[in-house]
Amino acid sequence: MKTSTIKMSHNQTVLIIGSGGREHALGYNLALDEVVSEVLYAPGNAGTALEKKGRNIAIDITDFSSIANLIEAKDINLTVVGPEQPLADGFVDYLNSIGYDKAFGPVKKGALLESDKFFSYMIMGSIGIPQADSALCFTKEEAIAEIKKRTTKEGIVIKARGLTAGKGVSVCSSLEEALTEIEIHSERYGPEVLISERLSGEEFSVFGISDGNNVYPINVSFQDHKLAYDGDKGPNTGGMGAYGPAPVAPEIVVRDIANTVMTPVVQEMARIGSPYKGFFYAGMILTEDGPKVIEFNVRFGDPECQPAMMVLKDSLYQPLSLALEGKLDQLKIDFRPGASCCVVLASKGYPGSYKKGSRILGIDEANAIDGVKVFHAGTKFDESGNIVTEGGRVLGVTSYSSLGIADAKISAYDGVSEIIKHSPGIFHYRKDIADKAIKRIG
Ligand code: AMP
Ligand code: GLY
Repeated sequence: MKTSTIKMSHNQTVLIIGSGGREHALGYNLALDEVVSEVLYAPGNAGTALEKKGRNIAIDITDFSSIANLIEAKDINLTVVGPEQPLADGFVDYLNSIGYDKAFGPVKKGALLESDKFFSYMIMGSIGIPQADSALCFTKEEAIAEIKKRTTKEGIVIKARGLTAGKGVSVCSSLEEALTEIEIHSERYGPEVLISERLSGEEFSVFGISDGNNVYPINVSFQDHKLAYDGDKGPNTGGMGAYGPAPVAPEIVVRDIANTVMTPVVQEMARIGSPYKGFFYAGMILTEDGPKVIEFNVRFGDPECQPAMMVLKDSLYQPLSLALEGKLDQLKIDFRPGASCCVVLASKGYPGSYKKGSRILGIDEANAIDGVKVFHAGTKFDESGNIVTEGGRVLGVTSYSSLGIADAKISAYDGVSEIIKHSPGIFHYRKDIADKAIKRIG
């Protein structure tokens, strides 16, 4: 990496908060820097424990003071917060308040960009960022009135105001559906909702690194596959697979979004006294009128992070350390040519109920395929030391190919076949990850 190298000794310790595929991929990437001697995962999963420099720490991540003790005891040089909940709960504020300034992620007020959809809607509105036209509703009655007023032949979207682990969005095709849905939705997620215009177009995700004043863009776009079944059908999930670069948004579009969306938002956050440091995630949709924002997240995407870490040329250790010091101008992040594809193996039944504790075999065989890396999410060791399923999304079989996305897709699915062959009957997965890209490229 051409990042102006910070002088560092060769025994830097990193702490990753979280236990999913995103956290495994981040830790895998950070460990690539030779100055990093150990990557601690709190609490991590079976895969993170098996990483060369990796070690899991069994700790409750809602217990901020225990984590602060760990940071002090282990002299942690960089803490990266994977998921949104600790950020929304003020984890970084807590660490800052006790004098620790090496936690990468926004403070609570910055995390409002994800944890309060009313807030992000208003911020975007105040600086003219294209988004779905919406009404902010505080009661179910207001929501019903807005649904009646705003539903078009395209339909309407109901979005919970707060965090819902990605589940609080209902995309409805008709007035009848929306009126039925609002009853269930308000029961589940409370009465405060955005009633939004339903946009149509291909979706993609863009990421940046912010130092509180500016944004350094990750100049590759990614595409998630949020619905459970092939052809974008079925219930919403946390994401069933992702790939990048996404041809729907070439580098020029990503740069444009960095300049017209991410940077203005970060500058507006600084202006209103809520400086935003951390990964910045813009969920976008390419409409007939150009790209519009669907949502902001205050962390890296999952699964997008898994292919992202495979196309980076180098470790993010120094870029993140520089961003924390406010030295974004010294960053230079390079990418490998080619593409990466990640296929999520989910427990059968996910996103509904599913069984835990099934033994997983075939991971080593998948990892032995050229260019394939299996990131773990919902996995753990049982008492006999076997790797077993522990969550809905279990593995992210991720590949890199210098030849491009069609080849990357083949090796990712070769990896999937190995795991399915050795662990039959326990997984559900999509067979069409990256097909939109392959179709676009022709
Ligand atoms: P979010 O949690 O905001 O990313 O929403 C989850 C999914 O709902 C998105 O990935 C979109 O597929 C869909 N969605 C959200 N907002 C809209 C919108 N205004 N129009 C169409 N689809 C939407
Ligand atoms: N990829 C969807 C998310 O991370 O929210």
